[in-house]
Amino acid sequence: MEKRWWKEAIAYQVYPLSFKDSNGDGIGDLRGIIDKLDYIKDLGVNLLWLSPVYCSPMKDNGYDISDYYNVDPRFGTNEELDELIEKAKERGIKILMDLVINHCSDSHPWFKEALKDPEGKYGKYFIFKKGKDGKEPSNWRSIFGGSAWEKVEGTDYYYLHMFCKGQPDFNWNNKELRFKLYEIMNHWLEKGIGGFRVDAITHIKKDPNYPSVPVDGPDGFGEAAKYALNYTGIGDFLSEMRDETTSKYDAMMVAEAPGVPKEDFGEFVGNNGYFSMMFDFSYLYPSFELKAPWHKIKPFTTDQFKEALFASQEAMQKADAWQAPYLENHDLPRSVSRYIPCEDLNRQSASALATILLLLRGTPFIYQGQEIGMTNCSMKSVKEYDDISTLDYYQRAIADGFSEEESLEVCYDFSRDNSRTPMQWDDSISAGFSDSEKPWLKMNPNYKEINVESQQDDKNSLLSFYKELISFRKGKFKDVFVYGDFETFMTNEKNLFAYKRILDKDVLFVLVNFQNEEKEVVLPSEVKEIVFSNSGRNELSDTIQMKGYEAIVLRGQNQ
Ligand code: GLC
Ligand code: CA
Repeated sequence: MEKRWWKEAIAYQVYPLSFKDSNGDGIGDLRGIIDKLDYIKDLGVNLLWLSPVYCSPMKDNGYDISDYYNVDPRFGTNEELDELIEKAKERGIKILMDLVINHCSDSHPWFKEALKDPEGKYGKYFIFKKGKDGKEPSNWRSIFGGSAWEKVEGTDYYYLHMFCKGQPDFNWNNKELRFKLYEIMNHWLEKGIGGFRVDAITHIKKDPNYPSVPVDGPDGFGEAAKYALNYTGIGDFLSEMRDETTSKYDAMMVAEAPGVPKEDFGEFVGNNGYFSMMFDFSYLYPSFELKAPWHKIKPFTTDQFKEALFASQEAMQKADAWQAPYLENHDLPRSVSRYIPCEDLNRQSASALATILLLLRGTPFIYQGQEIGMTNCSMKSVKEYDDISTLDYYQRAIADGFSEEESLEVCYDFSRDNSRTPMQWDDSISAGFSDSEKPWLKMNPNYKEINVESQQDDKNSLLSFYKELISFRKGKFKDVFVYGDFETFMTNEKNLFAYKRILDKDVLFVLVNFQNEEKEVVLPSEVKEIVFSNSGRNELSDTIQMKGYEAIVLRGQNQ
């Protein structure tokens, strides 16, 4: 297998709004991140994905960019960003900038020009269509709710926004626009960054007729994915983008690529793929239909999760493709709240989950706070939520007849704000995130118990475990974990995650008893020794009694 630096990396995502506030305004900033670089380095990661810090009206927290070349003053200055890139580099960490190019902000100068003349040069950078019979050009629902079309006052035109109305979609059919976007990418690549995390990229191509779809909700709109997600021909744009940008540098791109079926993995992230790696959505919620309203998502079992996760690994391997295994990011609830029943939640179960994730095939991504076991945050009222998508899903639950309480419950399970509450550094006011007593988003009240300071010097803490696990992955078995094959075993054992990583003669068996109960496991005969454990086990016999949430790694010899 081809060796690449980014296959050997371990990534950490920082959500700048919530990581560390250095000037007491309640908003995280670049200086705060710079101040915490040693903390990040200490974890053992070497790739830092920075969610957007560009100028933005923040309708979608920076995923609505009004100037791709400048840092938003709330986060700091361009010089501070240069400093961050430089100081990270000194610590062996490469920065991944977030690249949001399916859409920009409605405050971007191109869009402001476009509104003045939808048929003019800048109008052609976006998607303007005339209405039909006094209504929208089609009945597509925007991902954040309501119509995906917004009327341009005083004209017959509507513009398309797959996300909120402050996020007009670019017209990727326009070559001039595409090359403007590549210019932006190359500007950042010239600064020596590691590459990009590419936002919502499978949305860039749409059916040119924008056909209406069957209505599937009380709002009278329908899900547009069939005509607007991973649409035929998207590959022409994606390969052009790669050839004009990252392939000229030793840079990587990790794609946020919802809607890519397993058959397309090779095309997207195989050896000659459009991207270096991608986030696969298929295992997040095994019962998840893309864009299903939250209140309609069914619960799933641990074994369904395991099957979906392993199927994703196998499909990637079969396609010679590379993925970025992850369980958390700024769009998802906290993984410990999602995958571990609350009565079982502790250091032991959280370390078991970490083991499952970090030894998989691919470049693992950890999200800020995951390493200390930050949990979902319960809000007392919908007013405490900030996220545009949470507010929409809350309304949709209410419209479907759910009570306020039930609708809040749904948000507790799914809201993106669960992972956006500020990072919990210590047990002082605002958890050491900020000197302000009123950070931009409510603190999770459990910061008094769950915080970095209380775990830092405790060698039994989750934080210490993460460091140990990361260093284990990077240690003497590194090549097996990075370049080795993935193979499942004991697949029928309930609540047991069992997989092998195999490279030539080396085999590592990862075994995680993901339940509170003990489990008797007969070890494969090739097992020679125990090389890693989350519970201090150091002796082996042919049959072992695994404790609840015990995770071990065994070394064997390939015959
Ligand atoms: C991606 C981002 C998400 C954002 C959306 C629109 O899914 O991760 O936060 O809201 O794209 O840019
Ligand atoms: Ca600040």
